[in-house]
Order: sequence, then structure tokens, then C-alpha cells
Amino acid sequence: MTARPGAAFPGARFPASRPRRLRRTPALRRLVAEVRLDPADLVLPVFVKEGLSAPAPIASMPGVVQHTRDSVRKAAHEAVEAGVGGLIVFGIPAVKDARGSGADDPGGIVQLAVQDLVAEVGDATVVMTDLCLDEYTDHGHCGLLTAEGDVDNDATLERYASAAVAQARAGSQVIAPSGMMDGQVAAIRAALDGAGFATTPILAYSAKYASAFYGPFRDAAECAPQFGDRSAYQQDPARATADGVREALLDVAEGADAVMVKPAMAYLDVVRAVAEAVDVPVAAYQVSGEYAMVEAAAAQGWIDRRRIVLETLTGIRRAGAGMVLTYWAAEAAGWLAE
Ligand code: PBG
Repeated sequence: MTARPGAAFPGARFPASRPRRLRRTPALRRLVAEVRLDPADLVLPVFVKEGLSAPAPIASMPGVVQHTRDSVRKAAHEAVEAGVGGLIVFGIPAVKDARGSGADDPGGIVQLAVQDLVAEVGDATVVMTDLCLDEYTDHGHCGLLTAEGDVDNDATLERYASAAVAQARAGSQVIAPSGMMDGQVAAIRAALDGAGFATTPILAYSAKYASAFYGPFRDAAECAPQFGDRSAYQQDPARATADGVREALLDVAEGADAVMVKPAMAYLDVVRAVAEAVDVPVAAYQVSGEYAMVEAAAAQGWIDRRRIVLETLTGIRRAGAGMVLTYWAAEAAGWLAE
């Protein structure tokens, strides 16, 4: 005979199972919490623009600026003070051309900024570089174009290889290729190894979707494609989760030391699936549009900004991401230390 729930002991009342017992006090909730946010897991993206005399606000990302070489150092110190695990640097050159020459120019803005940052905070945090061509090309695409205007995968790999070596020479502590060319991790790994940077890790933007959530970033990095869009190389949001897993597994096989899913919030199923499929660290990028939406609603007083930020970060960590790239990294790290 099976006992009726709650009837096993005299005096027990239905229901026997009461999940609310462990939610009753802040101390109980803290004791049983499984997802904890730690500043060390947060990575702050920073934009540095060549030729700026003062930081320039980005209209679609209130609170985020294009930095000068000086102001990015100050921002980096503040972020490190707050305990962030890393910084990822994006460079915006003064002049763009078809081949994205600024990407591998030893005197290019990203290389100069990385030298500064590594010298200042390179022991206290991890200084990473985004590796792509879109910030550097006049057409705004992530690679070299064919005469027909398609992005030429294999010709682009040579540019990425050269940019990776330039970033490593400047001191970048993690190279993060974001262009979604097939074979990019293998090409960059070979180039780094050949140039004496066998110990420089690659964080691959592996599962990166063709997303409207990157809209504000294109203001920040001044890299909106001048024609067409990125759907022929970034992933289709309507594919099954397995497409993201496939990309991550390919990158790991090519030598990626860590993989990334991007954007975060609309792709948490992919974060979860990738985290289960790989045995390397998994990052998720809470991108510019995710930031802008929360800031806009908070500015209207429609949502509680701080609670929403911490809840989104918790959700991304709960989905399986170990690291989160977020424009709130320094501020959130400060809250967590309170
Ligand atoms: C490509 C790159 C992009 C972002 C990071 N790296 C833009 C794109 O793929 O179109 C977007 C980040 C964001 O939206 O916050 N260099």
C-alpha cells in the first residue's frame, strides 16, 4: 500500500513537500543558492578610437563611450579595481580601407591600446582583443570582398592570421576571433604558433548569430555594413541548437581554448547545449542591443535597472556560461563587492 503524501506521520499535514521552506529567509536562500555571480567571471568590452581628443558618448548605449588612449586606461583601472576578470578591446581606426589595414598595423589603434593596457593592468586582469575586420574595413564587412561583393573566406583567413600576430606582439593575452569565417581558429592558431605565441590562448566566438541585437555596437565601432548584411557568414537564428554546437565543436577541434555564444539572452538554449557539449570554458556575450534595451526601459522608470542587470547575468550563468562579456561588467562587479 502506498502512503498518501503527508500521511506518513501522525499529525503531518498535506502537502508534505514544501519548496517554500528553503526560501523563507535571506540566509536560507543564500545558503542554497547555486548560481553565484563573481566579478572574476565578468569581462568588460571597451572601445578605443584613434584620433579622439575626449571620450565620445555612444548615443544608443548610454553610459558607454568610445575611449581615447588615455581614458581607456582610467576605465581599465576602475574595472580592475572592481575586480573584473578581463577586458576585451575593440579598436576603431581613423581611416578605413577595403582590406582593413588597421587590423594588423603594429601602430594601429588596437595594438597601441593593448600595449598601454597590458603595461598598466596586465597582471591584475586579462587583456583580450576582439579580432575581426569589420571595424577596419570601409565596406564594414568582416572580411575581404570578392569582385562580386561576397566575403572571401580563405583570403580573409590570411588577414585574420596577420592581425592575430600583430595583437599578440602588442601583448594581447587572449585572441578572440569574431568574424565567423570557416577555419579561422585553425588559421590563427597556426599563425600564432609560427610567430612564437604558442602560449597565447584563443577564445573563439564560435556560435555567433546574425542578430539585430548588434545594432548599437555598429554605432560604437562605426562598422555598419555599407551594403547587404552578415547573414552569409553569421548563423541563422532559425537553425536548430545543434548548429551552434557544431560550430563550437569545430572550433575546439581547431584549437580553441575557450568558446563563446553570442548574443546571450535570446540564445540561452545554445549556451546550455554548448556548455554540455564541450570541455573548455564557455563564455556568453551580452551584446549591445541587450544593454540598450535595459538602459532604455530603466531610463523610463519601467524596470528596476540594477535588479534586471543582476537577473540577466544570473540567467546567463545558470544557462551554463562560465564567463560573461557585458557592458555592465565594472558596475556589476562593484555591486557584487558591496
Ligand atoms: C565583430 C563584432 C560585433 C560584435 C562583437 N564583435 C559586431 C557584429 O558581428 O556585427 C557585437 C557586439 C555587440 O553588439 O555588443 N567585430
